[in-house]
Amino acid sequence: MQELEQLVSRATAEFSAISDAAQLEQAKALYLGKSGSLTELLKGLGKLPPEERKSVGAAINQGKQAIEAALEERREHIRRAALAAQLQAEALDITLPGRGMGLGGLHPATRTLERIEELFRSIGFEVADGPEIEDDFHNFTALNTPENHPARSMHDTFYLENAPGLLLRTHTSPIQVRYMEEHLARHKGVEPMPPIKVIAPGRVYRVDSDATHSPMFHQVEGLWVGEDVSFANLKGVFTDFLRRFFEREDLKVRFRPSFFPFTEPSAEVDMGCVFCSDGCRVCSHTGWLEIAGCGMVHPNVLKHVGIDSEKYLGFAFGVGPDRLTMLRYGINDLRLFYDGDLRFLSQFK
Ligand code: DAH
Repeated sequence: MQELEQLVSRATAEFSAISDAAQLEQAKALYLGKSGSLTELLKGLGKLPPEERKSVGAAINQGKQAIEAALEERREHIRRAALAAQLQAEALDITLPGRGMGLGGLHPATRTLERIEELFRSIGFEVADGPEIEDDFHNFTALNTPENHPARSMHDTFYLENAPGLLLRTHTSPIQVRYMEEHLARHKGVEPMPPIKVIAPGRVYRVDSDATHSPMFHQVEGLWVGEDVSFANLKGVFTDFLRRFFEREDLKVRFRPSFFPFTEPSAEVDMGCVFCSDGCRVCSHTGWLEIAGCGMVHPNVLKHVGIDSEKYLGFAFGVGPDRLTMLRYGINDLRLFYDGDLRFLSQFK
């Protein structure tokens, strides 16, 4: 029986020195396993004289229970220690300031488009859009652009494979045509035709890529057709728009004679450089920045949609809002717009 007591106290001592769950289960096997010390004692019972068996058996069982209790206690201890360690390791310092949720913001190109829309809406213009996949008719033919015009060449325009006559629009001018067609359908037979006053912002595509050209960029088209719309109106509207856009009452604006197939006469619009007064790198030392094309709508364009060019006339313009964004925010590389780099974009939140 002394042997049994020793066994129990040895097991208890051994268990309590162990702090690893797997190791504890191994130690258990030494006592309670198939050939563990206690199991061996039980096996020895059969060799005892029958009168001793009962009491010795009971004592061994007690010893077994004591070892099992010690084992269970140690298991529980190890479980708790592991939990405490885990809690400690995963502890959160709830007094730290939070990281906060990142706030999104509008892309600078979008901000400019919204600003342009707001300025033109304030003087009675509507905002329209049109498809980015255009047909040859709306992009070129209806805009009085002849078959052999360089803009139609494969080098300048993205044509769609297996879709004859379809292309990515090279400018927003086809929306002029689509809008006039819709306007006429909407006001069929109404005399005189209510005036058309619309701008159309959107993405356009050309085979072009460098620091100031991207294969995809933005344009805003403008169109005002009515009974007595003049070039003076064009100058007034566009000059006023630029001054309000750049918030500079003294901004210089000039109209230079130019050529576009869909306007006659045509002009290019320059504005005084916003970075200098007498020439810098941005304006190529001229003091002027080219920002739009414009003119009086060519009678052939009106004819193509069925508007009487003897009775109605109008002006149109096409402006590059990306250029305006670069000038307004002092950005020198257009590619930054489309890199998706948050270090750049988050400055505009
Ligand atoms: N569509 C022309 C281009 O992309 C720009 C333009 C010029 C638009 C004159 C117009 C205009 O409406 O009248 O180069």
